[in-house]
Amino acid sequence: MCGIVGYVGDNKSIEVLLGGLRRLEYRGYDSAGVAVIDSEGHIGTRKRAGKLQVLVDDLEDRPLANGATGIGHTRWATHGGPTDRNAHPHLSADGKLALIHNGIIENFAELKQELVESGATFTSETDTEVAALLVGREYESTQDLTEALRRVVARLHGAFTLLVMHEDQPGVVVGARRNSPLVIGLGDGENFLGSDVAAFVEFTRRAVAIGQDQIVTIRPDSVEVIDFGGAPVETEEFDVAWDASASEKGGWSSFMAKEISEEPEAVGNTILGRVHDGLVKLAELDPIGDAALADLDRIVIIACGTAAYAGMLGKYAIEAWARVPVDVELSHEFRYRDPILTERTLVISISQSGETMDTLVAVQHATAAGARVLSVCNTQGATIPRESQAVVYTHAGPEVAVASTKAFVAQVTALYLIGLHLAGVRGTLTDDQIRENVVELQAIPDKIAEVLSVSQAEIGQLAHWMTDTQSVLFLGRNVGYPVALEGALKLKELAYIHAEGFAAGELKHGPIALIEPGQAVIVVVPSPRDPNSLHPKVISNIQEIRARGARVIAIAEKGDAAVLPFADEVIPIPLAGSLFEPLLAVVPLHIFGMELASAKGLDVDQPRNLAKSVTVE
Ligand code: M6R
Repeated sequence: MCGIVGYVGDNKSIEVLLGGLRRLEYRGYDSAGVAVIDSEGHIGTRKRAGKLQVLVDDLEDRPLANGATGIGHTRWATHGGPTDRNAHPHLSADGKLALIHNGIIENFAELKQELVESGATFTSETDTEVAALLVGREYESTQDLTEALRRVVARLHGAFTLLVMHEDQPGVVVGARRNSPLVIGLGDGENFLGSDVAAFVEFTRRAVAIGQDQIVTIRPDSVEVIDFGGAPVETEEFDVAWDASASEKGGWSSFMAKEISEEPEAVGNTILGRVHDGLVKLAELDPIGDAALADLDRIVIIACGTAAYAGMLGKYAIEAWARVPVDVELSHEFRYRDPILTERTLVISISQSGETMDTLVAVQHATAAGARVLSVCNTQGATIPRESQAVVYTHAGPEVAVASTKAFVAQVTALYLIGLHLAGVRGTLTDDQIRENVVELQAIPDKIAEVLSVSQAEIGQLAHWMTDTQSVLFLGRNVGYPVALEGALKLKELAYIHAEGFAAGELKHGPIALIEPGQAVIVVVPSPRDPNSLHPKVISNIQEIRARGARVIAIAEKGDAAVLPFADEVIPIPLAGSLFEPLLAVVPLHIFGMELASAKGLDVDQPRNLAKSVTVE
């Protein structure tokens, strides 16, 4: 929610800010704006409702004087609609200070009241303008931008990253963060701030993550970090593991198309370096320790959206392999119901961005309650891994499209690796059994590549036929159920079509009433080869809905003859062990959501009302 970028260095602020905003636009695209201190020492701002391109076009028509200091913002609206006036940056009363914000200032109403009573006037409906006016006032009395910001953040409640700059302090940008992300990019004679490393990876891959409740002051040749109490803070540099080209479209029609094509590598790279002698060894779990892992009596997986569906798959695998009970909870439900947690509970958080506020506060709650917290995350330097006892990174590379695809398969892979590691530590599988599962997992990248090469055109055709469809139901059983939920979510968020995922066994308990002639139903069919397979039951479910006129599209193992007579369309997937089938079955559903949205002429990378990182509760 909201992307922010700050720059001090050469006379190229506008290029740096617009480049950074382009790569951060996935975080929000309701409006965009920049502020730059020009060579005369004056602040110029330009901000426009709509996507970044509206601002870019405006700057081409009416150029802003460039400068060596600047801040830029792309907004996901919370307080106040997506208008030019509510776009960031916001200015202090004297217009000399510009400020941008990501997050929500929860006590803004009382601060606004106080400011109004003391004569302030407001030009927007945002919570952010309160901070701009307050920092402006503090600067008047302190003449010190860092101290002014420090005094103000002490009065703010909620979640915020703030960046400020002042006309009287060219060459200085100050940032502060609480519960929202902020990363420093270290350059040569220039320095950067960003919501994530994508903001500056074009210029430098040297980065430093700012901790909770810290303030950073950047100048072209220095970076200083203090805490909210004013004490200096030691920081740790890391290298960004990918380069700018990884966050570019690179000739694809959309980021989503590119990211789906990267699903094989997302799985392969997540496995890489974690298998030794055919067994899974996750050195990342050392901070928790084998003794504690062997002694666990419960695992709780917390996540939101697609990550929660990955978590559901993790439950099936971890329970099967490590024989420990696993609950999966939506982070926001978990956090606010006083869950029972002990030191024998392992909480596993899953987050692509590592910044999802619902998951972050759940992690903080679990840590405070004495549970062990392990995070699965795709983003280096993000807040959630920093606040966790241990972290297993997925190596999916940057995911830019708002709809999560390659991160999902990487999250499932990471959870399966964790399950196999735990099985080794707990002695619940033999080494040979672990090796068999590792071989299955290592075969998945090639099998996903096969799905991509065989099915893409066919699914595109199907999606084109279905552009007028009003509703699609998704059915699956066991590990097919989370896949059904994921397929439905993709269709809702991308194509704005009513879609629901159901456990197929639940059908007769209510949802079958939705079936009427022509209703499209996508069914995830398990392999018929497994003697314990639910294949016959799913075939029965298909017959039940067909009898009521449903149009059935089956995702089934290639060669599954039993499904053919009952399905209108069959999308084949390669053979795999039953726990591994979801990593294949989900791929056609990712393609289907994207193709149907594209066929309707929708923007698949930036669906309406959404943002990639949900950094407010
Ligand atoms: O960054 P996270 O993995 O924590 O994000 C969680 C969800 O917000 C995310 O998966 C969301 O549901 C996606 N838009 C789904 O495609």
